Amino acid sequence: MTITGIVFIFYRISQSGWLKKEIIMTNIENKVAYITGGTKGIGLGIAKALIEGGLKVAISGRNMQAADAARHVLGDENVLVLQVDVRNFEDEVRAVEQIVATYGKLDVVIANAGVGKFAPVDELTLEDWNAMIDTNLTGVFHTLKATVDQLKRNKGYYISIASLAGTNFFAQAAGYNASKFGVVGFTQAAMLDLRSYDIKCTTIMPGSVTSEFNGHVPGEEDGWKIQPSDLGQIVVDLLKMNSNVLPSKIEVRPARTK
Ligand SMILES: NC(=O)c1ccc[n+]([C@@H]2O[C@H](COP(=O)([O-])OP(=O)(O)OC[C@H]3O[C@@H](n4cnc5c(N)ncnc54)[C@H](OP(=O)(O)O)[C@@H]3O)[C@@H](O)[C@H]2O)c1
Repeated sequence: MTITGIVFIFYRISQSGWLKKEIIMTNIENKVAYITGGTKGIGLGIAKALIEGGLKVAISGRNMQAADAARHVLGDENVLVLQVDVRNFEDEVRAVEQIVATYGKLDVVIANAGVGKFAPVDELTLEDWNAMIDTNLTGVFHTLKATVDQLKRNKGYYISIASLAGTNFFAQAAGYNASKFGVVGFTQAAMLDLRSYDIKCTTIMPGSVTSEFNGHVPGEEDGWKIQPSDLGQIVVDLLKMNSNVLPSKIEVRPARTK
């Protein structure tokens, strides 16, 4: 066959609609989102982006002083602030009741709350191990379990914030690695179980992010890191994506090193 013939066949295929795919972005306005650990750092950045995107947003955390500061940043009228410890399942059930009572439904859940305690494994305390497993792993399950009926009803989206520590292990991070490897496995398995209900599940696995994680005080030296607003943008992009597409596991790195 001549080159002209091949070009002609390719032209006919492209005109037939085979290669044409209309991009219809999902409308996210007026959807309702719940972000655990939304009072600081990454969760707060995601909350800002979702409010700008037209969603109604609820955030939670344990410390009400931090929650009040977040309410101030986000605007009182834009956000429902809830006192929740994700380690307690009853707290999460109560949070969902309050969200539905306020906004009438729940479409998007971001399981973000997490803590990091770093020490050589032989020095890692039981208290620090339990804090990480109970918050980062069991808390992520509590969040899904408390919200899954709403997600089923609304064909919703569940996103967990894991970490690159959920795929790369490093020294002094045995407990943190264990919790985050767990979150990645949990969310991927949940994705397989829940996609038959048209619920999407994604794990976002960031590298270094500017936040108050592990007592860090953000400053100018953090400019090279991923910013919470960058993760907010990724979440908005995921929510807007065509309903037939699911990026289920996303690794995010700073573009440059320090
Ligand atoms: N910063 C990084 O470089 C980085 C990288 C990859 C992944 N991550 C992950 O990103 C997530 C958010 O961390 P971040 O960096 O934004 O840290 P952060 O600035 O310390 O924020 C953590 C948030 O989680 C809340 N939280 C902690 N324990 C909680 C609990 N038991 N119940 C409810 N809320 C709780 C905190 O509020 P209260 O303390 O008031 O409860 C706060 O709102 C974590 O899962 C972390 O592992 C962070």
